[in-house]
Amino acid sequence: MVGCGGYLPERIVTNAELAARLQTSDEWIAQRTGIRQRHVAAPGELTSDLAFHAATRALDRAGLKGSDIDLIVLATATPDNTFPATATKVQARLGMTQGCAFDVQAVCSGFIYALATADNFIRNGQARRALVIGAETFSRILDWEDRTTCVLFGDGAGALVLSAQRDEGGGAEERGLLSTHLHSDGSHYDILYVDGGPSSTGTCGFLRMQGKEVFRHAVHRLAEVVDEALAASRLPATSLDWLVPHQANRRIIDSMGRKLGLPPEKVVITIDRHANTSAASVPLALAEAVGDGRIRPGQLVLMEAMGGGLTWGAALARW
Ligand code: ACO
Repeated sequence: MVGCGGYLPERIVTNAELAARLQTSDEWIAQRTGIRQRHVAAPGELTSDLAFHAATRALDRAGLKGSDIDLIVLATATPDNTFPATATKVQARLGMTQGCAFDVQAVCSGFIYALATADNFIRNGQARRALVIGAETFSRILDWEDRTTCVLFGDGAGALVLSAQRDEGGGAEERGLLSTHLHSDGSHYDILYVDGGPSSTGTCGFLRMQGKEVFRHAVHRLAEVVDEALAASRLPATSLDWLVPHQANRRIIDSMGRKLGLPPEKVVITIDRHANTSAASVPLALAEAVGDGRIRPGQLVLMEAMGGGLTWGAALARW
């Protein structure tokens, strides 16, 4: 992991602004979710634009150029077009001419899925330097009349550059990704989905969610997968320096922090300012905490996420 970066669209929509046109309130949204505001992409500002800006920042911090990268894995549930992959648009804008670029789709778990994919490419020697991006414009798939969903999401992008290093060193205090863990259970497809698509309705559709049900599964499955990640490295929760969780609900994040015995200041929180940016939430939080110097080289970082599918996963890394 040699550099990360985030990008948020300029426009901020506060809870008060939503309360002015919906039957909701700042108090309800903040108390139930921890959200105070979200960023929303400008008309004509696409997922690929957000992804490009985040990728450029990540590459700058890594001291690399687009032409140094041989893999882009971009996680999104809101691609610019049904095809081609948004990753190929980003590839062209970055001037990357070698290797391959493609999208993965695991909604809010997308970044963890993309990270696992890129890590496996690197471990297999199929790529040397990968750009892993989570980018979303959920504002385009929200039913802005539905207060039970539209208050929860925001737009943004985050990116992380991975570089093959293990064959150049390693050792007991190995840095980089230690392990990734992915799961899905398609039998819960209908508790969080978009009611459109090219093969079903021919329209883009809107996000539909049974919030309480998703909440219940999230607490349970995330607890399982973080245990799995720690067990894989034979590390106790007390060895963790940071939890960088998917930012869907402050109550879910707090319950994970308590489960791991982490003090609140060791849990990276962005939900108050970003809301749920789906696949972008983990890399945005990571970029913020690395950028402001909280996460330092050698520290142990646990990332986790849960999303539509249902999908869930975790990644353990030594920064
Ligand atoms: N403002 C005011 N009232 C509201 C709002 C709102 N924005 N939304 C719902 N309400 C009302 C409901 O209508 C309901 O009213 P009623 O009791 O008269 O029927 C009441 O508030 C309680 O609603 P609940 O749905 O029971 O509220 P809950 O405490 O479950 O919170 C929430 C809802 C915030 C959605 C929560 O369930 C949640 O965060 N779920 C998990 C979401 C998640 O983790 N998603 C992860 C992945 S997202 C992805 O992959 C795309």
